[in-house]
Amino acid sequence: MTIRNDDELQGMQAEGRLVASTIAHMRPHVQPGTSTGALDDLAERFARSHGARSAPQLAYNFPGFTCISVNEEIVHGIPGERVIRAGDVVKLDVTLEFDGFMADSAVTVLVPPATAVAQRLNRAARLAWQRGFAAVRSGRRMSDVGGAVERTARAEGVAVIRGLTGHGIGRRIHEPPEVPNWADPDVRVTLHEGLVIALEPMLTMRDDGVDEGDDGWTLSTASGGIAVHHEHTVMVRRGEALVLTAA
Ligand code: MF3
Ligand code: CO
Ligand code: CO
Repeated sequence: MTIRNDDELQGMQAEGRLVASTIAHMRPHVQPGTSTGALDDLAERFARSHGARSAPQLAYNFPGFTCISVNEEIVHGIPGERVIRAGDVVKLDVTLEFDGFMADSAVTVLVPPATAVAQRLNRAARLAWQRGFAAVRSGRRMSDVGGAVERTARAEGVAVIRGLTGHGIGRRIHEPPEVPNWADPDVRVTLHEGLVIALEPMLTMRDDGVDEGDDGWTLSTASGGIAVHHEHTVMVRRGEALVLTAA
């Protein structure tokens, strides 16, 4: 969506804050012995008590309230019986609907003891997100954003997972434009003031493509390597973009 007035801005800010606080609520419970289903229940109770609903459920009939993906799973993991273990790399991806607005954010939580690879990937994901974010401003090209993300990933010695992208968001979960994590020559989009996008680098050590799971949802690295994911919903401005899902 493009935010055009104060009501829309306030609506998206309220929605973004709810997404952030839902993730903050889940995060301390990412511990060995907790199931991903239990984490999802926590999120559902918290979000519903604030009047929010699951956007993936509304839009796609997704089987969980949130998406939780572990280790080689990249995104769209279905919460369930799986129990978190020491050393796991856990991606919490929360997209809510509140008052007709939608926002999307994801974090990667490293359960101790984190491997050197997991630490390197996670640092790279946050840095790549920051550099991409710095390129988000009105008048600039979308390919500048993706270019900054991929350059940063490469400089950190890791790889962007090609084929999975960010997206416009606001009234629906996935809206145009696509937000690739590389300088995609096919995406000829210039950013304009008020445009809301989800910027979400997904990184791994060696990108051999993406496997779709037997459950019809979970996307995993074809290499079997660890994946990380960092996502916020942001609004384009003339200066630095506004992070709507900031903690
Ligand atoms: N949060 C996911 C994203 O970052 C979307 C999940 S919708 C699903 O785009 F139904 F596909 F899980
Ligand atoms: Co998401
Ligand atoms: Co998203």
